[in-house]
Amino acid sequence: MPDLSVTLAGVKLKNPILPASGTLETVDTPMLAGDLSQLGALVNKTVTRDRRDGNPPPRVWETAAGMLNSVGIPSIGIDEFMKGGLPRLRARNDRIIVSIAGFSVREFVELAETVAAAGLADFIELNLSCPNLESGVLWSTDSGLLAEVVGGVRRAVNVPLIAKLSPNVTDIAEMAAVAESAGADALGLVNTFRGLAIDVRVKKPALGNTTGGLSGPAVKPLALYAVWSSYRRVRIPIVGMGGICSWRDAIEFMLAGATAVAVGMYNFVEPGCMWEIRDGIDRYLAENGFNGAKDIIGLAHRNQ
Ligand code: FUM
Repeated sequence: MPDLSVTLAGVKLKNPILPASGTLETVDTPMLAGDLSQLGALVNKTVTRDRRDGNPPPRVWETAAGMLNSVGIPSIGIDEFMKGGLPRLRARNDRIIVSIAGFSVREFVELAETVAAAGLADFIELNLSCPNLESGVLWSTDSGLLAEVVGGVRRAVNVPLIAKLSPNVTDIAEMAAVAESAGADALGLVNTFRGLAIDVRVKKPALGNTTGGLSGPAVKPLALYAVWSSYRRVRIPIVGMGGICSWRDAIEFMLAGATAVAVGMYNFVEPGCMWEIRDGIDRYLAENGFNGAKDIIGLAHRNQ
Protein backbone atom coordinates (compact mmCIF):
# COMPACT_ATOMS: atom_id res chain seq x y z
CA MET A 1 0.00 0.00 0.00
CA PRO A 2 1.56 3.36 -0.96
CA ASP A 3 1.95 5.95 1.79
CA LEU A 4 -0.37 8.82 0.89
CA SER A 5 0.95 11.20 3.54
CA VAL A 6 2.77 14.39 2.61
CA THR A 7 4.51 17.01 4.72
CA LEU A 8 3.41 20.59 4.12
CA ALA A 9 5.64 23.19 5.76
CA GLY A 10 6.65 20.74 8.47
CA VAL A 11 3.10 19.51 9.15
CA LYS A 12 2.19 15.96 8.19
CA LEU A 13 -1.09 15.50 6.27
CA LYS A 14 -2.54 12.00 5.96
CA ASN A 15 -3.03 12.60 2.24
CA PRO A 16 -2.64 15.55 -0.15
CA ILE A 17 -6.36 16.22 -0.80
CA LEU A 18 -8.05 19.32 0.59
CA PRO A 19 -11.17 21.32 -0.23
CA ALA A 20 -10.44 24.80 -1.57
CA SER A 21 -11.69 27.55 0.70
CA GLY A 22 -15.39 28.19 0.18
CA THR A 23 -16.33 24.74 -1.05
CA LEU A 24 -16.58 22.84 2.23
CA GLU A 25 -19.26 24.39 4.36
CA THR A 26 -22.03 26.92 4.67
CA VAL A 27 -22.08 28.73 8.02
CA ASP A 28 -22.32 25.53 10.03
CA THR A 29 -23.24 22.75 7.61
CA PRO A 30 -20.75 20.68 5.62
CA MET A 31 -21.92 20.47 2.01
CA LEU A 32 -19.84 17.48 1.01
CA ALA A 33 -20.59 13.81 0.85
CA GLY A 34 -17.89 11.87 2.62
CA ASP A 35 -15.95 11.34 5.83
CA LEU A 36 -14.24 14.69 6.40
CA SER A 37 -11.72 13.11 8.75
CA GLN A 38 -10.28 11.26 5.74
CA LEU A 39 -9.16 14.40 3.91
CA GLY A 40 -5.66 15.81 4.28
CA ALA A 41 -6.99 18.95 5.97
CA LEU A 42 -10.11 21.09 6.14
CA VAL A 43 -10.26 24.73 5.08
CA ASN A 44 -12.95 27.24 6.05
CA LYS A 45 -14.54 29.82 3.77
CA THR A 46 -12.27 32.83 4.24
CA VAL A 47 -13.25 34.71 7.37
CA THR A 48 -13.01 38.49 7.82
CA ARG A 49 -12.84 40.57 11.00
CA ASP A 50 -16.38 41.91 10.72
CA ARG A 51 -19.63 40.29 9.71
CA ARG A 52 -20.28 40.80 5.97
CA ASP A 53 -23.19 40.01 3.68
CA GLY A 54 -21.07 39.56 0.55
CA ASN A 55 -21.93 40.66 -2.98
CA PRO A 56 -25.39 41.10 -4.53
CA PRO A 57 -26.88 38.14 -6.47
CA PRO A 58 -26.49 36.46 -8.86
CA ARG A 59 -23.24 35.27 -7.31
CA VAL A 60 -22.40 32.35 -9.58
CA TRP A 61 -22.67 31.85 -13.33
CA GLU A 62 -21.93 28.69 -15.25
CA THR A 63 -19.51 29.02 -18.17
CA ALA A 64 -18.59 26.62 -20.95
CA ALA A 65 -15.96 24.83 -18.92
CA GLY A 66 -16.24 26.26 -15.45
CA MET A 67 -17.87 28.71 -13.15
CA LEU A 68 -17.65 32.41 -12.49
CA ASN A 69 -18.27 33.39 -8.89
CA SER A 70 -18.59 36.72 -7.20
CA VAL A 71 -19.59 35.75 -3.71
CA GLY A 72 -17.76 38.64 -2.06
CA ILE A 73 -16.63 36.76 1.07
CA PRO A 74 -19.75 36.79 3.20
CA SER A 75 -18.58 36.18 6.73
CA ILE A 76 -19.91 35.63 10.21
CA GLY A 77 -16.95 37.64 11.50
CA ILE A 78 -13.91 36.33 13.33
CA ASP A 79 -15.46 36.30 16.82
CA GLU A 80 -18.37 34.05 15.82
CA PHE A 81 -16.03 31.89 13.75
CA MET A 82 -13.68 31.35 16.67
CA LYS A 83 -16.59 30.39 18.93
CA GLY A 84 -18.46 28.11 16.54
CA GLY A 85 -17.02 27.49 13.08
CA LEU A 86 -13.46 26.70 14.04
CA PRO A 87 -14.21 24.24 16.88
CA ARG A 88 -16.71 22.51 14.55
CA LEU A 89 -14.06 22.11 11.85
CA ARG A 90 -11.50 20.96 14.40
CA ALA A 91 -13.85 18.22 15.58
CA ARG A 92 -13.96 16.82 12.03
CA ASN A 93 -10.27 16.60 11.11
CA ASP A 94 -6.90 16.70 12.84
CA ARG A 95 -5.52 19.25 10.36
CA ILE A 96 -7.15 22.65 9.93
CA ILE A 97 -6.25 25.53 7.65
CA VAL A 98 -7.88 28.79 8.71
CA SER A 99 -8.34 31.14 5.77
CA ILE A 100 -8.43 34.86 6.61
CA ALA A 101 -8.75 38.12 4.68
CA GLY A 102 -8.22 41.63 5.98
CA PHE A 103 -8.81 45.05 4.48
CA SER A 104 -5.50 46.41 5.80
CA VAL A 105 -2.18 44.96 6.93
CA ARG A 106 -3.21 45.64 10.52
CA GLU A 107 -6.42 43.68 10.05
CA PHE A 108 -4.55 40.71 8.58
CA VAL A 109 -2.17 40.78 11.54
CA GLU A 110 -4.96 41.04 14.11
CA LEU A 111 -6.93 38.22 12.48
CA ALA A 112 -3.84 36.01 12.42
CA GLU A 113 -3.08 36.81 16.07
CA THR A 114 -6.64 35.89 17.06
CA VAL A 115 -6.45 32.59 15.19
CA ALA A 116 -2.98 31.77 16.52
CA ALA A 117 -3.95 32.53 20.12
CA ALA A 118 -6.68 29.88 20.06
CA GLY A 119 -4.16 27.17 19.17
CA LEU A 120 -6.62 25.32 16.93
CA ALA A 121 -5.14 26.05 13.49
CA ASP A 122 -2.31 24.06 11.89
CA PHE A 123 -1.96 26.69 9.15
CA ILE A 124 -3.23 30.15 8.41
CA GLU A 125 -4.12 30.79 4.78
CA LEU A 126 -3.71 34.44 3.87
CA ASN A 127 -6.30 35.06 1.18
CA LEU A 128 -4.41 37.69 -0.77
CA SER A 129 -6.28 37.14 -3.98
CA CYS A 130 -10.08 37.41 -3.88
CA PRO A 131 -11.02 39.03 -7.21
CA ASN A 132 -14.41 40.05 -5.86
CA LEU A 133 -13.38 42.58 -3.22
CA GLU A 134 -12.24 46.04 -4.16
CA SER A 135 -8.80 45.53 -2.61
CA GLY A 136 -8.84 41.71 -2.87
CA VAL A 137 -6.28 40.92 -5.55
CA LEU A 138 -4.14 43.96 -4.80
CA TRP A 139 -2.45 42.08 -1.97
CA SER A 140 -0.80 39.68 -4.36
CA THR A 141 -0.59 41.70 -7.56
CA ASP A 142 1.47 44.50 -6.00
CA SER A 143 4.79 43.09 -4.83
CA GLY A 144 5.29 45.83 -2.22
CA LEU A 145 1.93 45.15 -0.59
CA LEU A 146 2.51 41.41 -0.78
CA ALA A 147 5.80 41.70 1.08
CA GLU A 148 4.26 44.05 3.63
CA VAL A 149 1.28 41.87 4.49
CA VAL A 150 3.10 38.53 4.55
CA GLY A 151 5.99 40.06 6.49
CA GLY A 152 3.64 41.73 8.96
CA VAL A 153 1.78 38.52 9.73
CA ARG A 154 5.03 36.52 9.79
CA ARG A 155 6.45 38.75 12.52
CA ALA A 156 3.25 38.43 14.55
CA VAL A 157 2.56 34.67 14.61
CA ASN A 158 4.40 31.35 14.49
CA VAL A 159 1.63 29.34 12.82
CA PRO A 160 2.68 28.15 9.33
CA LEU A 161 1.46 30.62 6.70
CA ILE A 162 0.06 29.73 3.30
CA ALA A 163 0.01 32.74 0.97
CA LYS A 164 -2.82 32.25 -1.53
CA LEU A 165 -1.91 34.20 -4.63
CA SER A 166 -3.77 35.68 -7.56
CA PRO A 167 -3.04 34.42 -11.07
CA ASN A 168 -3.88 37.88 -12.42
CA VAL A 169 -0.25 38.90 -12.77
CA THR A 170 2.35 38.82 -15.51
CA ASP A 171 4.75 36.50 -13.67
CA ILE A 172 3.31 34.39 -10.88
CA ALA A 173 6.71 32.89 -10.04
CA GLU A 174 7.99 36.38 -9.26
CA MET A 175 5.13 36.93 -6.79
CA ALA A 176 5.76 33.48 -5.32
CA ALA A 177 9.35 34.50 -4.68
CA VAL A 178 8.22 37.75 -3.00
CA ALA A 179 5.89 35.80 -0.69
CA GLU A 180 8.67 33.35 0.15
CA SER A 181 11.16 36.11 0.94
CA ALA A 182 8.59 37.82 3.17
CA GLY A 183 8.21 34.67 5.26
CA ALA A 184 5.44 32.53 3.77
CA ASP A 185 5.84 28.85 4.62
CA ALA A 186 3.79 27.64 1.66
CA LEU A 187 1.91 28.97 -1.34
CA GLY A 188 -1.67 28.45 -2.49
CA LEU A 189 -1.58 28.54 -6.31
CA VAL A 190 -3.89 29.81 -7.66
CA ASN A 191 -7.05 31.69 -6.80
CA THR A 192 -9.56 32.38 -9.57
CA PHE A 193 -9.00 34.34 -12.77
CA ARG A 194 -10.97 37.56 -13.10
CA GLY A 195 -13.62 37.24 -15.80
CA LEU A 196 -16.97 38.43 -17.08
CA ALA A 197 -20.19 36.99 -18.45
CA ILE A 198 -23.00 38.95 -20.04
CA ASP A 199 -26.58 37.76 -19.85
CA VAL A 200 -27.89 38.39 -23.35
CA ARG A 201 -31.53 38.16 -22.21
CA VAL A 202 -31.18 41.23 -20.01
CA LYS A 203 -28.23 42.65 -21.95
CA LYS A 204 -26.07 43.35 -18.91
CA PRO A 205 -23.38 41.60 -16.86
CA ALA A 206 -24.66 38.30 -15.51
CA LEU A 207 -23.19 38.64 -12.03
CA GLY A 208 -24.54 41.08 -9.48
CA ASN A 209 -21.05 42.46 -8.91
CA THR A 210 -20.33 42.67 -12.69
CA THR A 211 -17.06 40.69 -12.72
CA GLY A 212 -16.20 37.40 -11.05
CA GLY A 213 -13.49 34.80 -10.60
CA LEU A 214 -13.28 31.94 -13.10
CA SER A 215 -12.55 28.43 -11.85
CA GLY A 216 -13.06 24.92 -13.16
CA PRO A 217 -11.56 22.88 -16.01
CA ALA A 218 -11.13 25.98 -18.20
CA VAL A 219 -8.35 27.26 -15.96
CA LYS A 220 -6.52 24.01 -15.25
CA PRO A 221 -3.63 24.40 -17.73
CA LEU A 222 -3.13 27.99 -16.56
CA ALA A 223 -3.08 27.00 -12.89
CA LEU A 224 -0.83 24.06 -13.63
CA TYR A 225 1.64 26.37 -15.33
CA ALA A 226 1.57 28.65 -12.28
CA VAL A 227 2.54 25.69 -10.07
CA TRP A 228 5.16 24.51 -12.55
CA SER A 229 6.88 27.88 -12.92
CA SER A 230 6.73 28.72 -9.19
CA TYR A 231 8.13 25.31 -8.23
CA ARG A 232 11.21 26.14 -10.28
CA ARG A 233 11.61 29.46 -8.52
CA VAL A 234 10.91 28.85 -4.81
CA ARG A 235 11.78 26.27 -2.16
CA ILE A 236 8.60 26.46 -0.09
CA PRO A 237 5.86 23.90 -0.79
CA ILE A 238 2.84 24.60 -2.97
CA VAL A 239 -0.83 23.76 -2.57
CA GLY A 240 -1.99 23.48 -6.18
CA MET A 241 -5.52 24.37 -7.20
CA GLY A 242 -7.44 25.40 -10.28
CA GLY A 243 -9.77 23.07 -12.17
CA ILE A 244 -8.92 19.84 -10.40
CA CYS A 245 -11.77 17.42 -11.18
CA SER A 246 -10.14 13.97 -11.21
CA TRP A 247 -7.26 12.00 -9.80
CA ARG A 248 -5.42 12.53 -13.10
CA ASP A 249 -5.67 16.31 -12.63
CA ALA A 250 -4.40 15.97 -9.06
CA ILE A 251 -1.48 13.82 -10.20
CA GLU A 252 -0.60 16.39 -12.88
CA PHE A 253 -0.42 19.12 -10.22
CA MET A 254 1.78 16.97 -7.99
CA LEU A 255 4.10 16.04 -10.85
CA ALA A 256 4.33 19.78 -11.63
CA GLY A 257 5.41 20.48 -8.05
CA ALA A 258 2.38 20.63 -5.76
CA THR A 259 2.78 19.00 -2.35
CA ALA A 260 -0.99 19.08 -1.78
CA VAL A 261 -3.96 19.78 -4.03
CA ALA A 262 -7.18 21.64 -3.32
CA VAL A 263 -10.44 20.83 -5.07
CA GLY A 264 -12.78 23.75 -5.61
CA MET A 265 -15.55 24.08 -8.16
CA TYR A 266 -15.84 20.34 -8.81
CA ASN A 267 -17.06 19.80 -5.25
CA PHE A 268 -20.29 21.48 -6.39
CA VAL A 269 -20.61 19.10 -9.35
CA GLU A 270 -19.66 15.87 -7.61
CA PRO A 271 -19.73 16.20 -3.79
CA GLY A 272 -17.91 12.87 -3.36
CA CYS A 273 -15.07 13.71 -5.74
CA MET A 274 -12.31 14.36 -3.19
CA TRP A 275 -12.54 10.83 -1.82
CA GLU A 276 -12.52 9.41 -5.38
CA ILE A 277 -9.47 11.54 -6.17
CA ARG A 278 -7.71 10.26 -3.05
CA ASP A 279 -8.46 6.63 -4.05
CA GLY A 280 -7.33 7.32 -7.61
CA ILE A 281 -4.00 8.72 -6.40
CA ASP A 282 -3.57 5.63 -4.26
CA ARG A 283 -4.14 3.33 -7.26
CA TYR A 284 -1.85 5.39 -9.52
CA LEU A 285 1.00 5.23 -7.00
CA ALA A 286 0.61 1.46 -6.58
CA GLU A 287 0.32 0.76 -10.31
CA ASN A 288 3.39 2.87 -11.05
CA GLY A 289 5.52 1.35 -8.31
CA PHE A 290 5.86 4.41 -6.07
CA ASN A 291 6.24 4.02 -2.31
CA GLY A 292 4.31 7.16 -1.55
CA ALA A 293 2.77 10.43 -2.65
CA LYS A 294 5.90 12.40 -1.78
CA ASP A 295 7.82 10.53 -4.50
CA ILE A 296 5.90 12.24 -7.28
CA ILE A 297 6.10 15.86 -6.07
CA GLY A 298 7.86 17.78 -8.84
CA LEU A 299 8.84 14.57 -10.64
CA ALA A 300 7.94 15.96 -14.07
CA HIS A 301 10.75 18.50 -13.69
CA ARG A 302 13.28 15.77 -13.02
CA ASN A 303 12.00 13.67 -15.91
CA GLN A 304 12.29 16.51 -18.42
O1 FUM B 1 -16.08 36.09 -3.82
C1 FUM B 1 -15.56 35.29 -3.04
O2 FUM B 1 -16.02 35.07 -1.91
C2 FUM B 1 -14.33 34.62 -3.51
C3 FUM B 1 -13.28 34.50 -2.75
C4 FUM B 1 -11.98 34.11 -3.28
O3 FUM B 1 -11.84 33.80 -4.47
O4 FUM B 1 -11.02 34.10 -2.53
